[in-house]
Parts: sequence; structure tokens; C-alpha cells
Amino acid sequence: MPSKPAPRGAGGSSAPPDERTEIALEDLPGVGTTTAEKLRESGYTDLMELAVASPGDVAEAAEIGTVIAQRIIGEARRRADVGGFESGAAVLERRKHLGRITTNAKALDELLGGGVETQAITEFSGEFGTGKTQLGHQIAVDVQQPVAQGGLEGEVVYIDTESTFRPERIVDMAKGLGVDPAATLERIHVARAFNSNHQMLLVQKAQELAREKPIRLLVVDSLTSHFRSEYVGRAELAPRQQLLNKHLHELLRFADTYNAAIVVTNQVSARPDILFGDPTRPIGGNIVAHAATYRIYLRKSKPPRRIARLIDSPNLPEGEAVFSLTGEGIRD
Ligand code: GTP
Ligand code: MG
Repeated sequence: MPSKPAPRGAGGSSAPPDERTEIALEDLPGVGTTTAEKLRESGYTDLMELAVASPGDVAEAAEIGTVIAQRIIGEARRRADVGGFESGAAVLERRKHLGRITTNAKALDELLGGGVETQAITEFSGEFGTGKTQLGHQIAVDVQQPVAQGGLEGEVVYIDTESTFRPERIVDMAKGLGVDPAATLERIHVARAFNSNHQMLLVQKAQELAREKPIRLLVVDSLTSHFRSEYVGRAELAPRQQLLNKHLHELLRFADTYNAAIVVTNQVSARPDILFGDPTRPIGGNIVAHAATYRIYLRKSKPPRRIARLIDSPNLPEGEAVFSLTGEGIRD
């Protein structure tokens, strides 16, 4: 059931969310109250969501036939402000508002071209204990700081899939920066994702939250753990990659719509095919490689040091940066 992800920049995503057209799903021919309700329960809350959905997904969500689903999608496409094309000037204008968030380590910021960028996905991958979760926590604190201090004065959505979010660490890191720990915790909206479906649903919930609060960072720690444990074996690889692709594109759309940074963590898996060099690689293969704008591969060095390497970046030179994991958080 290949579901075509929303193209970047589609859906008038450059328009502020409150300006988006709100037409009730019930207004579509063939959509009764029950169908509308089922659609909404599955996360199709407005015309745009429907317009970019696949007939198979809609049929399943609303428990209707694919022919009817196709007709509903077609009508949603006609009525929704799908946009689709933006002028180069509009893209340039949107990119003028790119924000950057410090990681609190100079070398790592430089490696990223000045910090973690909004309107993009940044992936931190590496073995256990390399500092992926610590980075997620640190950036969640840093994004709240004023622009002069490397923040965006923003709030955070934190999707925790491994139950490793620790408010105590946030308190340590806030104290390390000399800011109020309680207020810092208030601005981090944490949700535990119980499985991959729930994880994807939480991105939609995050959109609701972002309409009320200035969310400028969305952390998914980790991106792949649920997908990896739920879809095992060769036969499951294609459906897993399709869902992961959908998830990543929903994240990208969130990034574009709210000018937010997306930070995802990712484990690595062994590559049985490699004899020389690093025998591991991030999970998710080319799907993640294509969607993530910045990919940082972490490895351990002499404690408390970690080495970050930029991989697969089209517009930045490859390089490495060293940083430390301290009691107060990420440092040079
Ligand atoms: P997995 O999720 O297991 O794949 O690992 P990860 O990459 O997320 O590792 P994480 O970010 O949890 O890093 C763990 C490391 O951070 C530890 O080995 C410590 O070096 C460091 N760390 C975590 N908490 C503290 C703390 O309270 N004080 C200090 N000094 N270091 C800490
Ligand atoms: Mg972790």
C-alpha cells in the first residue's frame, strides 16, 4: 500500500497555519458523519491530509472501498489549496527565515554549518552511549534561549520511543546554562510513543500543539527503534521502509510549516558485508539518507569525548568535530 508522501512545500505550507482553509470533511460528496469520524480518528483532519493520501490508506482508515476512497481524494484535491508549486522567490523568502540552534559545542555547530537548522531534519546516529539522547536533551534546552545565545526562543515537542527522556538531565543542563529549570521543563512537551503507529500519530498531535505554541524543535528519540522491532525479516522490509518514509515526510512537512528543526536519533546496525572500516551503519538505509538534510555519525573517544562526523551532506564539506558529554550537558 504505497502511500505517496506530501511533496515538500506543498499544501501552502509556507502560509501560516492559521491561514489554511478549514473545510469540514463532511462537505465532501460521499463522506457521511461516520466516514468523517473514522477519517479524523486516523489522523485525516483536514482536506490537505486527504488530498495527499493514498487511496489504499484512506480506504482502510474509513473502511470503504478504494474506488470511493479515490473519488473522495480527488474531490479533496480539487477543493484543498494544494498549491504544490512555489516560485523560487517564495522558496528563497522562506529560507531567509531559517533558524539555527546551537548544540552548545562550537566545533559541532561549525560542522553543522552554524548549528541545527530549521526546515530540515538532522539525524544523530551512533552506537549505544554515544550521546544521541544527551544531544536531544541539550538542543531542547538550547532552542529556548534567546537568538543571541544560539536559541530561537521556542518550545519543544519531544517524542520519546525508548523511555529515556530524563527531566533531571534537563534540570542539570538548564542549571549549566544558568536558566530556570522549572520554566525550561514547562516548554518541553514530552510524549512517549508506544509503537510506530502511535509515533506517527504523535506528529499529527504535534501539529495541533504547534498551532497554539511556538514549537521550533521536534525531537524523535529514536526514529527507528519501533519500526525496527515491529517489522522484522526480509518480507517486512518494504512495508517498514514505506511507513518510515511517510513518517519522515510528515516530519519534513512539520519542519516547513512551523519553521522548526527536526532532530532524530538513530541506532546503527552491523553490516555483515564490510571487512574494512566501520562495520556499522545507521538503520533505515536510503530512506533516511534521502530525507535527512544533515546526518551526524557519532562515535566514542577518550571519555568524556565523542567524535561527530558529518556524512552524506550535499552542501557542507565532510569533516569531524570533537565534543564532551559532561554533567552539565554538551560542551566543547
Ligand atoms: P542509546 O540510546 O543507548 O543508543 O545511547 P545514546 O547514544 O542515546 O547515549 P546517551 O545520550 O544516553 O549517552 C549516554 C552517555 O552520556 C553516558 O555514557 C555518559 O557518558 C553521558 N551521560 C549521561 N548522563 C550523564 C550525567 O548525568 N552526567 C554525566 N557526566 N554524563 C552523563
Ligand atoms: Mg538514547
